[in-house]
Amino acid sequence: MTIAPPAAIGMLGGGQLGRYALVAARTMGYRTVVLDPDPSAPAGRIADEHLVAAYDDPAALDHLGATCAVVTTEFENPPAESLQRLAATAVVAPDAAVVATAQDRLAEKAFLRRAEVPTAPYGTVEAAGDRPTVGYPAILKTARLGYDGKGQRDVDGPDDLEAAWRELGEVRCVLEERLPLDAELSVIVGRRAGGQWAAFPVAENHHVGGILDLTVVPARVDAALAAAAAELAAGIADRLGFVGVLAVELFVSGGRLLVNELAPRPHNSGHWTLDAAVISQFDQQVRAICGAALGATELTVPAVAMVNLLGDLWSGGEPDWDVALADARARLHLYGKAMPRPGRKMGHLTVLGPTADDAAASALGLRAALRPR
Ligand SMILES: Nc1ncnc2c1ncn2[C@@H]1O[C@H](COP(=O)(O)OP(=O)(O)O)[C@@H](O)[C@H]1O
Ligand SMILES: [Mg+2]
Repeated sequence: MTIAPPAAIGMLGGGQLGRYALVAARTMGYRTVVLDPDPSAPAGRIADEHLVAAYDDPAALDHLGATCAVVTTEFENPPAESLQRLAATAVVAPDAAVVATAQDRLAEKAFLRRAEVPTAPYGTVEAAGDRPTVGYPAILKTARLGYDGKGQRDVDGPDDLEAAWRELGEVRCVLEERLPLDAELSVIVGRRAGGQWAAFPVAENHHVGGILDLTVVPARVDAALAAAAAELAAGIADRLGFVGVLAVELFVSGGRLLVNELAPRPHNSGHWTLDAAVISQFDQQVRAICGAALGATELTVPAVAMVNLLGDLWSGGEPDWDVALADARARLHLYGKAMPRPGRKMGHLTVLGPTADDAAASALGLRAALRPR
């Protein structure tokens, strides 16, 4: 049965992803409640109600579960027990087991291996002498709580492994071969209970220092490869019994597709859908978790590019937004965060173009022209 407006949608996490989802929900006439311990969380100002409490606060969870028909999440690390508690009184999508799998790189890799989905060669490091047999150079990644390249160390050879593991706090880690990459792609796929799915056009992603820098759509790769990426992502969503929006990060290495990681939520590399797809990834999230028919995902323009605006851009003062606003084919997004720390995602720019090359060049050029007044 569809959860229709004006039912309430609950959101665990109040960052920019939650903020956009709640804008989409409010546009469709849903009530919205967000739980985030930060009183200045970006989604707090959008929601009808902001519960300022810890993610495992029983009273806040019970209030969220009692007032909302469905609860979803916008970040990787809500406690699984919180999702289970909510599930007693509300629909929780994606469910606790799926979120738990995506929270832990080792659980995620084991799931992908069972599903016979190719990944980079990897092994487990959880104790001082663990030396899995992978090729070097390799990357050591903490199993939990890593994001934007945090919680990772380069490892040049087996002799450097233990020091890297100690630097990461002696926690469970995955050691992964560093692959030569032809490209990085992502697929954002919506799926609702019953199995209907829809993927957005495949995105081409460029990272700088482990953080997404530029996304270009359509991806400048072979059409058959892009189609295979979409099928792979849909197969993963099916196998997980996923309900909501799933982002699948992929490597192309030696012409082959490998899955890097999964995010059980809308994704930074899908922000372009706000401005250049029939419906956005956030509209799709609301539709999917409410059991409504999925919306159309195709591009409404020939090509689009998105560049992130990180806190580093503020090093000399507030950037000159007039430059961005003066471009009729660009759209400025700022998330309303007060503190522009280096590496912090403060906003993004989307630029439409006649070709992928043109859109990418315009987006990079426009960002480079943003200088403090
Ligand atoms: N095995 C690998 N081989 C080559 N590059 C990698 C590998 N793992 C990660 N990277 C690079 O680092 C980026 C961030 O790594 P990722 O595992 O996606 O962590 P995060 O959770 O921080 O996004 C990737 O998008 C890619 O550019
Ligand atoms: Mg990643």
